[in-house]
Amino acid sequence: MTSAHPSLNLSDELLIAKGRHRACYQHPTNAELCIKVHLNAHDDLETIREVRYFKWLHRGHEKLAGIADYCGKVSTNLGTGYVYELVKDYDGQVSKTLEHYLKNLDDTLLQAIDISSAYREFKRALQRQYISMMNLKTYNIVFRKESETKGHFYLVDNLGSANLLPLSYFFKSIASRMLRRKFLRFESLVAERYHFSLD
Ligand SMILES: Nc1ncnc2c1ncn2[C@@H]1O[C@H](COP(=O)(O)OP(=O)(O)OP(=O)(O)O)[C@@H](O)[C@H]1O
Ligand SMILES: [Mg+2]
Repeated sequence: MTSAHPSLNLSDELLIAKGRHRACYQHPTNAELCIKVHLNAHDDLETIREVRYFKWLHRGHEKLAGIADYCGKVSTNLGTGYVYELVKDYDGQVSKTLEHYLKNLDDTLLQAIDISSAYREFKRALQRQYISMMNLKTYNIVFRKESETKGHFYLVDNLGSANLLPLSYFFKSIASRMLRRKFLRFESLVAERYHFSLD
């Protein structure tokens, strides 16, 4: 089949990770970007909702803090690809999820990389921007190591509201209250599952 727009080839070597709905690939020609494709082409409703929310956020014209930004759509050999900023560590490695750190490091090591202060800053950044998001998961936040001992968190998935009428987009008080609730629930979930206090 021929097409007016040559599509990008996402080969297995470019695969970064798979979630339940999407696979995340390194962009073949831009090392700062990743491309997400749907494992099931008909299962893209959540991405469409997320993209709509990013477009709303972009009207603010400010660089988003604590969020891997959305950069547009491309056509790929695996169907429609959604392009995002790729979060990478100071040594060029793709950043790992909070889940990875909680599963693999003990308290002393988590304290050594200052997970808690990075988490508090992440929380402040999302609150300051009145971000709407679905429930937080440890595998949807990545920790960008900026040195051996410091880093920042970035949300990579699940932005926007699933409500038909997303009041949190329009009312800052509602957004703040939802965020507070989500962070609290997330912190108690992490404390229960990993015996680690994020805040
Ligand atoms: N911008 C990014 N930078 C670095 N790694 C990323 C980025 N986006 C995603 N990843 C990695 O790819 C994984 C899967 O991506 P993503 O969470 O978008 O897929 P998903 O199928 O929507 O996830 P879920 O199972 O939560 O629905 C993430 O858990 C993370 O490890
Ligand atoms: Mg995910």
